[in-house]
Amino acid sequence: MQNLDALVAEAKAAFAAVTDPDALEQVKARFLGKSGQITQHLKELSALALEEKKRAGAAINSAKDAIEAALAGRREAIRLAALEARLAEEALDVTLPGRREDKGGLHPITRVLERIEALFASIGFTVADGPEIEEDFYNFTALNTPEDHPARSMHDTFYLLDEAGQVAKNVLLRTHTSPIQARYMRAHVERYKGRETMPEIRIIAPGRVYRVDSDATHSPMFHQVEGLWIGEDVSFAHLKGVIADFLRGFFESDDLKVRFRPSFFPFTEPSAEIDMAFMGGALEGRWLEVAGCGMVHPNVLQSAGIDPEKYQGFAFGFGPDRLAMLRYGINDLRLFYEGDQRFLRQFA
Ligand code: DAH
Repeated sequence: MQNLDALVAEAKAAFAAVTDPDALEQVKARFLGKSGQITQHLKELSALALEEKKRAGAAINSAKDAIEAALAGRREAIRLAALEARLAEEALDVTLPGRREDKGGLHPITRVLERIEALFASIGFTVADGPEIEEDFYNFTALNTPEDHPARSMHDTFYLLDEAGQVAKNVLLRTHTSPIQARYMRAHVERYKGRETMPEIRIIAPGRVYRVDSDATHSPMFHQVEGLWIGEDVSFAHLKGVIADFLRGFFESDDLKVRFRPSFFPFTEPSAEIDMAFMGGALEGRWLEVAGCGMVHPNVLQSAGIDPEKYQGFAFGFGPDRLAMLRYGINDLRLFYEGDQRFLRQFA
């Protein structure tokens, strides 16, 4: 019979040599398994005489106990080593500098639009919307600009191609937000059809518009904010008050002059251009055009089904890109649309 002490030593060495639990179980089989060495020794006992059998049996059993203890010890050691490895791997180095959170920010034009919406909301205007691919009818005809009207050429625009590659009749990228007026008035009339009186209309409509135009102060896509207030006695005086208040609110300054310069738009009569001038700062005293406006033309009201004898009101169209340039001191409109992070980050 092989020296049992040597067998125990061999088992210990074999256990110590493996480092993962599966391999350890394989090694265990070599000593304690069905045909392992300890089992082998026990089988050989039957050939011995009784006294000898007792002695050898006790010796084998104590060797077996020693091997089992070594196995249990090694199992525990492997488990702890794995745990420690995991802890080391998942350790947090709290002295590392933090990962910077890359926060997005609102585009300066979006900020300006939100600011305009909030200012007008404070005097009861709600926000209306309309499609950017617009029908010729709403963009022009409903706004008192019939097909042969010269004002159409000032809106030389992007037309769309139909499936045959021809210029699609009747649709275009809208050239201004004014078609939203026409749409809103019609929907409003429809909503209150059959009633004796119709509630006031008081909306602003911010949105993207498109024209063939591109230089430092013009972009082929730009923004407008349309305004419309129709009621039984809404006058030009209201228009002046609303606009002056808005501009002072927008620029957070009472040191601001506003003037209404006679102009022409087919959909208003009378019509005016709105200019403003700061009374201090770098732009002091320079008149800057910021909007068009006027009293809504009776033809426009009538076309929407509103009786111009009973209702009247004003409309205006602001250029918020221009307002953003003034508010942030930016001299090239194209910066807003180039997507340059170095520029945009300053507003985030
Ligand atoms: N739609 C005009 C433009 O794009 C701006 C404008 C002028 C809008 C007068 C109005 C208005 O509502 O009354 O040039």
